Amino acid sequence: MFLIFGDPVSHSKSPLMHNYFFKKEGIDECYGRFCLKDGSKIIEKFKELKIKGANVTVPHKEWAYKLADEVRGIAKEIGAVNTLVKEDDKIVGYNTDAPGFLEAVKDFKFKKPLIIGAGGTAKALSLVLPKADILNRSEKRLEYFKKKGKKTFTWNEIDNFDYDLIINTTSAGLNDENLPAPTNIINKLFSNSKYAVDVIYGKETPFLKKAKEYNLKTKSGLDMLVYQGVLAMELFLGKELDREKVAKLYFEILR
Ligand SMILES: NC(=O)c1ccc[n+]([C@@H]2O[C@H](COP(=O)([O-])OP(=O)(O)OC[C@H]3O[C@@H](n4cnc5c(N)ncnc54)[C@H](OP(=O)(O)O)[C@@H]3O)[C@@H](O)[C@H]2O)c1
Repeated sequence: MFLIFGDPVSHSKSPLMHNYFFKKEGIDECYGRFCLKDGSKIIEKFKELKIKGANVTVPHKEWAYKLADEVRGIAKEIGAVNTLVKEDDKIVGYNTDAPGFLEAVKDFKFKKPLIIGAGGTAKALSLVLPKADILNRSEKRLEYFKKKGKKTFTWNEIDNFDYDLIINTTSAGLNDENLPAPTNIINKLFSNSKYAVDVIYGKETPFLKKAKEYNLKTKSGLDMLVYQGVLAMELFLGKELDREKVAKLYFEILR
């Protein structure tokens, strides 16, 4: 038995994706959801429910990081865990969100990325994209990136438009029709770029609509969601999978 912890959790697509995989592969397992109010109880609940593995979503990823018996891989740098796996007597924490992003864009041949936004997703992506610069609406959240030696800009400061991959990690476009930066900035960026990725899923955002007008190759948050799920399934089963085959199943059921 596997499940996802979150609050809220009813919107999560993970049960749909993973149960479809189990069914198609003839694996006698199931994947549920658990609305956990108190994140400090996450490991206690994991043990009580006697599950083999879990995904963790908002707002409990930091609790999972703090409380897992051991944290492995990029999760240590990110400071957030989205996958918990029972391995012998230990509950081990991993992060497949940022590696899932990399897997989703593996056919994009980019050299110089620009991340728009400076929140949790931007932090995680900046760790797997060490060459990325950061553009944000306001100054405050850029401090973290400056301390890490990153090149950062606010909308007023940007003076370089030479990027081949533009990534929107803001929530602009999620519940509105906004672009993540003023139109003139996005136009200049897109006229030099080859690729655009939006981490938002469930709709075509104004950011991706515009990218298509510029004939850029695009990926949406759906791709990131699918590949974080594929990587989580590898950890749950403790073996490498044919990632493209599993991703195809996940896209099939999500669409
Ligand atoms: N596909 C996936 O698997 C996946 C995974 C994780 C997250 N996501 C999505 O990623 C998005 C961001 O999540 P997060 O946790 O990183 O958010 P967050 O920590 O709250 O950060 C939000 C960032 O967006 C900026 N922002 C918000 N509204 C804006 C607007 N109208 N125009 C320009 N900038 C704006 C903020 O700028 P200020 O600093 O100026 O406030 C901040 O930099 C959400 O839409 C979430 O659903 C998707």
